[in-house]
Amino acid sequence: MKTALVTGASRGIGRGVALRLARDGFQVVVNYARDETSAKEVVRAVEADGGSAFLAHAELGRPGAVDELARQLAERTDRLDVLVNNAAIGTSVPLEDETPENFDRLFAVNVKDLFFLTQRLLPLIPDGGRIVNITSGVTRIAFPEAVAYAMTKGAVQVFTLALAKQLGPRGITVNNVAPGIIDTDTNASWLRDNPEGAAYAASRHALNRVGEVSEIADVVAFVASDAARFVTGTTIDATGGGNL
Ligand SMILES: NC(=O)c1ccc[n+]([C@@H]2O[C@H](COP(=O)([O-])OP(=O)(O)OC[C@H]3O[C@@H](n4cnc5c(N)ncnc54)[C@H](OP(=O)(O)O)[C@@H]3O)[C@@H](O)[C@H]2O)c1
Repeated sequence: MKTALVTGASRGIGRGVALRLARDGFQVVVNYARDETSAKEVVRAVEADGGSAFLAHAELGRPGAVDELARQLAERTDRLDVLVNNAAIGTSVPLEDETPENFDRLFAVNVKDLFFLTQRLLPLIPDGGRIVNITSGVTRIAFPEAVAYAMTKGAVQVFTLALAKQLGPRGITVNNVAPGIIDTDTNASWLRDNPEGAAYAASRHALNRVGEVSEIADVVAFVASDAARFVTGTTIDATGGGNL
């Protein structure tokens, strides 16, 4: 059975990706940071559907987290067919209000540990494997409201480009999937039960609605599949036509 690790898979987009990849026949490693209850629920949902999944607890961005995650993975498998780097934190802070501490934390989770987790797990990824990085429409659409967050996603896109070139000869593809505004906990405070917020979010997308987790999961599933074997080093824009 092929194995896929999804970082930040207890909730939101990561959860949707984990459930979808499990349906596609992968054994899924469900990484989470704090919400053990939700992470266990994902494993239960996969198993109830006849699939296979296990938990891997590690809060990326904290010292030792990459080693800890790699250790838990190695206890269960020596092969990783798909790595989905999804876990990230996002804070909406404009330039004037940003602090060095918050900036460092954003880069530690969204960039540094994504980089070193990939470095650490690369020996487990076989020829023909897949690396999928979840970035954001904010690398294309100016987003001064959260400039440091947007910069972390830009850094990941540059990483993807270089890594795709390096790993191409082995048939390993490396791609970004860039969501638009999706209905997840991150956006709950201004999007859920707030018709004004929801209307604003919809107006940013040509498709005139907020995106669903499953719509990002479907794109990740495609990139992870054999059908996408000749797609690498690129960004799949899944923003519903954000700011067209
Ligand atoms: N939602 C959007 O509109 C949107 C738009 C563009 C891009 N994105 C990107 O999509 C990805 C997922 O976002 P989301 O909206 O699904 O987020 P979310 O609903 O807030 O869920 C975050 C998930 O990541 C985990 N996580 C958070 N910090 C972590 C850490 N340090 N180490 C390991 N796991 C961690 C959380 O685990 P716990 O449950 O344990 O806390 C949770 O499973 C992110 O890369 C985000 O930047 C989202």
